[in-house]
Amino acid sequence: MNPQSQNLTWHHGKFSSEEREAKLKQKGCVLWLTGLSGSGKSTIAREVECALLEQGKNAYVLDGDNIRHGLNSNLGFSPEDRKENIRRIGEVAKLFCEAGVIVITAFISPYRSDRDLARNLVPSDRFFEIYCAASVDECEKRDPKGLYQKARKGEIPEFTGISAPYEAPLKAELILETGRESLTESTEKVLKRLQQARMI
Ligand code: ADX
Repeated sequence: MNPQSQNLTWHHGKFSSEEREAKLKQKGCVLWLTGLSGSGKSTIAREVECALLEQGKNAYVLDGDNIRHGLNSNLGFSPEDRKENIRRIGEVAKLFCEAGVIVITAFISPYRSDRDLARNLVPSDRFFEIYCAASVDECEKRDPKGLYQKARKGEIPEFTGISAPYEAPLKAELILETGRESLTESTEKVLKRLQQARMI
């Protein structure tokens, strides 16, 4: 998106991103978790964050429900608002990534085009789209927040998976079968993928 203001000058820091990463002894990257509500995104994000912190890595979770209390408190769930939600998070994730942090985002992010916009904000080897692939049936059975029940009764409009679409990733870097595998298995898979890509 082009800025509306003019006369802007881009300022650079004294260290290049390579120098910053060498000093911090870690590489910034974005772990972009996507999936239905109740598919386990937030739980996995927290578990991965915890494991990384225990290894002495700086990792930080951006979580849908939390961010909608602050930065994105003016946004709802129309396609336009979800797009703006993901655009802002993409920009925030980019900043964290540049700061050398392993940022883990946990948003439904139902539209492929919005996820691709977020992907294209950071270098291609620094973005990991991670699909929490539990089906509507599986998420509805769990229904940890009771939202599917409400949505079925028509009490939540535009609810993803019920009355609003979810576009599954076509090129995810990693798929977690969160309906079938345990939290430990999913977490291990994410950490292994990060090691394979030499991020940690
Ligand atoms: S996104 O679609 O814009 O990426 P986001 O991840 O920020 O969604 O927020 C999803 C969370 O908001 C859900 O986990 C749920 O708790 C809550 N929520 C409230 N209304 C809806 C809705 N209509 N569709 C999906 N989630 C909703």
